[in-house]
Amino acid sequence: MIDKINSLKAEIESLVASSPEEVEQIRIKYLSKKGLVSALFNDFRALPPEQKRELGQKLNELKNFATEKVNALRESLAAADDDASASIDLTRTAAPVATGTRHPLSIVKNEICDIFSRMGFTIAEGPEIEDDWHVFSSLNFAADHPARDMQDTFFIQRNPTDVLLRTHTSSVQTRVMEKTQPPIRIICPGRVYRNEAISARAHCFFHQVEGLYIDRNVSFADLKQVLLAFAREMFGPETQIRLRPSYFPFTEPSAEMDISCHICGGKGCPFCKGTGWVEILGCGMVDPNVLEACGIDSKEYTGYAFGMGIERITNLKYRVKDLRMFSENDVRFLHEFDAARK
Ligand code: PHE
Repeated sequence: MIDKINSLKAEIESLVASSPEEVEQIRIKYLSKKGLVSALFNDFRALPPEQKRELGQKLNELKNFATEKVNALRESLAAADDDASASIDLTRTAAPVATGTRHPLSIVKNEICDIFSRMGFTIAEGPEIEDDWHVFSSLNFAADHPARDMQDTFFIQRNPTDVLLRTHTSSVQTRVMEKTQPPIRIICPGRVYRNEAISARAHCFFHQVEGLYIDRNVSFADLKQVLLAFAREMFGPETQIRLRPSYFPFTEPSAEMDISCHICGGKGCPFCKGTGWVEILGCGMVDPNVLEACGIDSKEYTGYAFGMGIERITNLKYRVKDLRMFSENDVRFLHEFDAARK
């Protein structure tokens, strides 16, 4: 009996528990009515009286020891719990949440809009699904102009009225001029569509920003000055511009604008194909026919317009070699512009 008491005591002493459930199991195993300690009390009853005195004391000690052990285990678990909550540092900065980044085209579009906003232009927008009048006819395109061809334009419906995806944001010009009398000073950012095979250098949709200024006495010199200011804001104060004669149905005279190559500074490099210049936009004085078609008196008012591709400007700034990357949504590519985002 004395051996049993001692070995049970040693066993109880070495017990450990890692959860309240385990403590409860220990209590049941040793201290419940059918537990090991209680079983010893049963054996005890059968003992001769002379042994009872000494062993009774030992048994009671064992029972108390087991009870204390169970309580101690319970308390140490509760204390560990408290410790865990005390170790939460409420002053620590929260773990960073991974957020999206602005798309490179949006970064550049915002920058373009910013520059022209500072020069007094407001932003105008129009629908991507357009009709022939707003995209072509009002803009002085001849009835047989090749841009109207299925090869170039996505038509949604042909005849009696053509419904199509706009091929340039110049359609927004018409919409604003139809509703507003000069002075008009707007830029129109937006997506445009052309029926092109998709490659590294061409896509069936891209983005433009078009500008329009109509008032009394607006001249080509005003256009040139605004574009020079834009080029210097966008590509740096050393930037030079040059205008080459060109043709658009809706402007007369028309021009294309180059900027001095911002990579070699105009000396000539592979990027500008050795010319020192890179083309960035089309522009010109709004053709009087366009003003009249939109209800603006061309004897009283003159105006200029310009239009540029956002992809083109983005490529010049960030040298993205393949146009398709802009629409593939590869986050590794998109995250490269984190630092540039505003
Ligand atoms: N709309 C022309 C284009 O899509 C660009 C442009 C706009 C040219 C305004 C002149 C004036 O290519």
